[in-house]
Amino acid sequence: MTEDVLIIGAGVMGCATAHALAKRGATPLVLERAVPGAEASSVAAGILGPALEAEHDGPSLPVAQRALEMHGALAEELLEATGVDVGFRVSGALMIAKDEREREALVEKHAFLVRRGLRAELLEASDARALEPSLTDALVGALSLPDEAQLEPPRLLRALAIAAERRGARFKTGTTVRGLVVRDGRVVGVDLGGELLEASRVVVAAGSWTSLLPGLELREDVIFPVRGQIAHCETRAPLLRRIVFGAGGYVVPRPDGRTLVGATAERVGFRREVTLAGLERMASIARGIAPALLEAPFVEARVSFRPATPDGLPLVGRTSIEGLFVTSGHYRNGILLAALSGELLADLLEGRDGGAAARLFDPRRFERDALG
Ligand code: GLY
Repeated sequence: MTEDVLIIGAGVMGCATAHALAKRGATPLVLERAVPGAEASSVAAGILGPALEAEHDGPSLPVAQRALEMHGALAEELLEATGVDVGFRVSGALMIAKDEREREALVEKHAFLVRRGLRAELLEASDARALEPSLTDALVGALSLPDEAQLEPPRLLRALAIAAERRGARFKTGTTVRGLVVRDGRVVGVDLGGELLEASRVVVAAGSWTSLLPGLELREDVIFPVRGQIAHCETRAPLLRRIVFGAGGYVVPRPDGRTLVGATAERVGFRREVTLAGLERMASIARGIAPALLEAPFVEARVSFRPATPDGLPLVGRTSIEGLFVTSGHYRNGILLAALSGELLADLLEGRDGGAAARLFDPRRFERDALG
């Protein structure tokens, strides 16, 4: 039997793609070497922060804004379809500055966000502390971003997988794909260790492991792992209401009192370790944002690998091998871009154009014979 669409990887990209396709009547088969959401997707803090994460006034900001809008609708749809509340909340966010140099960076960021039509407000330190009394005293100013949101990634993963399955997607867990099988420039299936599973179309959604998949014509190291360690602690009642970025990291408060402090960004390959240096870094972020957090009971530290790319943008779309598609490399924005990437890939699989996001995220910019 030849599968119509095979998806390799049941992280948030694989699940979102399966969900988008299943809604359109397709019956994709998702192959996962572990279980859905076993890797970075479930470790992610779930920050939906187009403005927080925008590093410069580039073309990806409108795409990220659109991605955030899609999450509100997706959360409602998933609640209705599965009964799972993914925890979507427009909690708002603050970026804080501890010195003049950081304050100037916020002034600059404020200017470009406002130019792009986003809501953002510069605050004096006293106004920021009036909003969030637990913030550090060592504060010279802040930027308020009222439209930034969050959700709980493990719940999103569960809901996407259940909803996709109910609509006809299938999941085969504990299945490791050894390589792609390509004949005459066209993908014909995947190698499951001596067994060929035939497919007309294959989507690679293997996160940090994507570039390692034999048969994919991507240049070496196009998608590489950046380790993130993140700490979970308990604060009852929550110390903060908004997401706060500062001190080289962030704090994400959940409404039930759990608080996440993150995250490291380390180029250490696939070393899956929680280190004392990582914990020290998170303690320093907590101290720099809300010192009372240092007294909160520590619950656990989690670790996984963000799939990073040389230009900071993901790869979502066709490759030059016919029938072969990729959705990976979303680095710090995988949860934010999940719904958008899933719908985009479903559009492309249906032969549609995909618009500006498709051009921005085109994987062929990194193929072995691409310039540069
Ligand atoms: N999205 C935040 C992070 O990757 O740490």
